[in-house]
Amino acid sequence: MDYILLDSGNKKKLEQIGPYRLVRPAQNAVWKPVLSEAEWAGVNGIFERDSTGGGRWKWLRGGVAPSWNVDLDFFNMLVKPTDFGHLGFFPEQYSNWQWLKKNVSGFGAQPKVLNLFAYSGASSLAAASAGANVCHVDAAKGMVDWAKENLKLNSEIPERIRWITDDVIKFVNREIRRGSLYNGIILDPPSFGRGSQGQVWKLEDDIMPFLELCGQIIDKKSPYFVIISCHSQGFSPSVLSRLLCDVFSSKGEIQSGEMLINEKNGREFAAGSYSRLLCR
Ligand SMILES: C[S@@+](CC[C@H](N)C(=O)[O-])C[C@H]1O[C@@H](n2cnc3c(N)ncnc32)[C@H](O)[C@@H]1O
Repeated sequence: MDYILLDSGNKKKLEQIGPYRLVRPAQNAVWKPVLSEAEWAGVNGIFERDSTGGGRWKWLRGGVAPSWNVDLDFFNMLVKPTDFGHLGFFPEQYSNWQWLKKNVSGFGAQPKVLNLFAYSGASSLAAASAGANVCHVDAAKGMVDWAKENLKLNSEIPERIRWITDDVIKFVNREIRRGSLYNGIILDPPSFGRGSQGQVWKLEDDIMPFLELCGQIIDKKSPYFVIISCHSQGFSPSVLSRLLCDVFSSKGEIQSGEMLINEKNGREFAAGSYSRLLCR
């Protein structure tokens, strides 16, 4: 595993990502760091957020390569520091990737899995490597291209991923009209987003009607699953599990919790919430 969360504190996190050490903002890390100031200073880059919500990288000690590959246990990913401080993967999704790797094969031969707000494709890779036919949907062409590059770094993963650059609401409505059905849906909706033609996505207004649309394309005659994750304030594990129970089924097996990253110092770092519903 080429990702290690070395420490956190003072509203920042110190991460080792392959050969590089980086410092990025972490608003909830209000405690004191465990490692010394010297450890925190010896890094290759620091992302500093500005008042607009964006920010900039400050490069130190020669900085980093424009992109590099990391082994995330289940697959390799291409890392690129972006203008908004992201690197192209969310390590807190590890337990969801683990769940997909372990469970997708239990949904029959080549189950159909839909990955919405699919970003750089980590969950698409996890589902495809476990035998699924994946439909990967994201509004940003640049993100879909990045996800395709990630698949190329994993020659052992079957190329059974359909790539869609579109607004998720528009896409799901189209699937309803076509009568398409899926055995599993994965979604990691942002607080705020934009569809491919600028359609506004606002989590608190759009999530419930959107999940109801998703409920129309899940194949309830066979075993199915839904995984939702969120980084938005207020969208706690119990809120997410209530949404899944209300929309999809209150009789399935539900697992919910915080998305946690194990820090090297033995502590846990919370980065959002997840809920997984499994109906057999
Ligand atoms: C992975 S999610 C958010 C990740 C993380 N939960 C966060 O809060 O930063 C972000 C992805 O959703 C995509 N996205 C946002 N609004 C969208 C929409 N209406 N339709 C399709 N994709 C959308 C973005 O392009 C981006 O790749």
